[in-house]
Amino acid sequence: MSEGTAAGVVRGYLSDNAAGASPEIAAAMTEAAVGLASPCGSDDVSKRVGARMAEVFEHPVDVFPVGTGSAANGIALATLTPPWGSILSHPDGHIANDEAGTPEFFTHGAKITLVDGPNSKITPEALRAAAVYRRGNLHSVQPSVASLTQAAETGSVYTVAEIHELSEIAHEAGLRVHMDGARLANALVALEATPAEMTWQAGVDVLSFGATKNGAMTADAIVSFDPSLRTELSYRHKRGGQLTSKMWFQSAQLDAYLTDDLWLRNARHANGMAERLRARLALHPEIEMLGDPRANIVFCSFPPMLIDGLHGRGFAFHADRWGPGVVHLVTSFAHQPEDIDVLLAAVADILG
Ligand SMILES: Cc1ncc(COP(=O)(O)O)c(C=O)c1O
Repeated sequence: MSEGTAAGVVRGYLSDNAAGASPEIAAAMTEAAVGLASPCGSDDVSKRVGARMAEVFEHPVDVFPVGTGSAANGIALATLTPPWGSILSHPDGHIANDEAGTPEFFTHGAKITLVDGPNSKITPEALRAAAVYRRGNLHSVQPSVASLTQAAETGSVYTVAEIHELSEIAHEAGLRVHMDGARLANALVALEATPAEMTWQAGVDVLSFGATKNGAMTADAIVSFDPSLRTELSYRHKRGGQLTSKMWFQSAQLDAYLTDDLWLRNARHANGMAERLRARLALHPEIEMLGDPRANIVFCSFPPMLIDGLHGRGFAFHADRWGPGVVHLVTSFAHQPEDIDVLLAAVADILG
């Protein structure tokens, strides 16, 4: 499957990381390429990003730019669990399925334990049981951190109250709370919550802050709300090969991303494109809408001939992961209403 465009139409729905970069971010990179800067994060743009993040989150933060969301997750989780710990993740979790063992690698072997719930979200009941499972038993890994994906892998979102409740359960059991926020902006605009409400005010200790899927080129960040983790995160960030010497390029992306609410505008647009797609797909009786997607993901079931027909016409999306007929389409800031309409026209044509 290709993510390419044909006749100027975006036909790629495999992931939002197939989108290019926002012009504002491309311009910031061009500007950052001129002249000299201090290496390894001691430059002015990196300092400005730290200050901007503190403003956005309304809290002092430590910010560590990284090149991938997997690196953010792995390094953050390694700081929150010992090697004999367990990381509690939903079975759909990116950390459990799509990182080729990055968390296990960075934690030196901590175990990912699956904690279930509908719509890719961990339930309080399941977390309550998992958080104390075999606690103190020398023969078992020790529950150490709960990791919540926001927005979740099938497009649902944890409400602020749900994050609050899960964090409380985790903290009461002595666990830390990590949020995989690869699509944090999409969740924020879906709920119209503030970054503070969705993270530290709801009990999140460390956040993997996504930007690459929503306008940046190659920049995500670890954002820590707990100053006691600063030193350990600093060394793990360096040791994990993420302290790039030309850090100002990643910082320039994050800086532009946060300027004039670009991140929220992009996410609002991406969510709107998914909503446009969902609303019109739902009109076809052959299509069953699944889950509870609220962000920039469409999760539904297509008849096999529709999957084959769309793939045959060059539309790219996952239909091989969630069971027979279940498809997962991701929209981004790069999709335009006309792109969505071309896909919808193809759906109507194939279904007859
Ligand atoms: C939920 C989630 N977390 C993290 C990531 C980060 O992935 P990567 O390492 O490709 O940047 C992704 C990317 O698909 C994701 O969907």
